[in-house]
Amino acid sequence: MRTFNIAIDGTSGVGKSSAADLLAQANGMIHLDTGAMYRCVALAMKQAGVNPDCPEEVSRVLDTVRIRFLGKRVYLNDQEVTDAIRTSEISNLTSRVAALPAVRKAMTSLQQQTTAAGGYIVDGRDIGSVVLPQAPVKIFLSARPEARARRRYDEYRQKGIEADYSQILEDIQKRDWQDSHRSTAPLVKAGDAVEIDTSDMTLDQVTAAIQRLIDAAGK
Ligand code: DC
Repeated sequence: MRTFNIAIDGTSGVGKSSAADLLAQANGMIHLDTGAMYRCVALAMKQAGVNPDCPEEVSRVLDTVRIRFLGKRVYLNDQEVTDAIRTSEISNLTSRVAALPAVRKAMTSLQQQTTAAGGYIVDGRDIGSVVLPQAPVKIFLSARPEARARRRYDEYRQKGIEADYSQILEDIQKRDWQDSHRSTAPLVKAGDAVEIDTSDMTLDQVTAAIQRLIDAAGK
């Protein structure tokens, strides 16, 4: 059991969540998937028919959003939304919603409160730079867009879901652009984060590389 927090940031589809899950199990820690939190906010906005350009409507929804994780399942106001937050419509909406300063402020504060006691592996885009700047282990995962699109395509096919590789690649490139060009907490590598390019690595190789950094931090 580690008592410090670990930040894992990186682009869409780079394997942050899978690596964080395995590392959490191996180290007796809790995985906090902050992307799922932003996805819940986007779904709540869609369900409430909220216009993301209207700050009052956005605040009203934020006040009512309650997010809970039970193992791998995600709940939004007691409704299970594990699959509902993973559709491509919600992925694209989340990228827009995550750019809203009020949304970022609310989620950052929730993430800081949740992880205050330590023992969390937190994955996202701004964890090392904004949410947990003091984390003793900060990782930035990157991979070529084509490698990420290929992984997502294979994932869909394994689940028997029809998928279009070119469309997935285009969506990934669009989301990369939105995530790294927004004015509030854009996707950036924290100055002291260790970058790992996972394009040609297996998940096991990625987790082993991060595990070495965790062991070196040693607390
Ligand atoms: O990691 P993911 O693909 O589930 O993230 C969904 C979206 O949320 C993605 O567009 C980036 C955004 N996000 C963010 O802006 N900040 C975070 N800490 C986590 C995710």
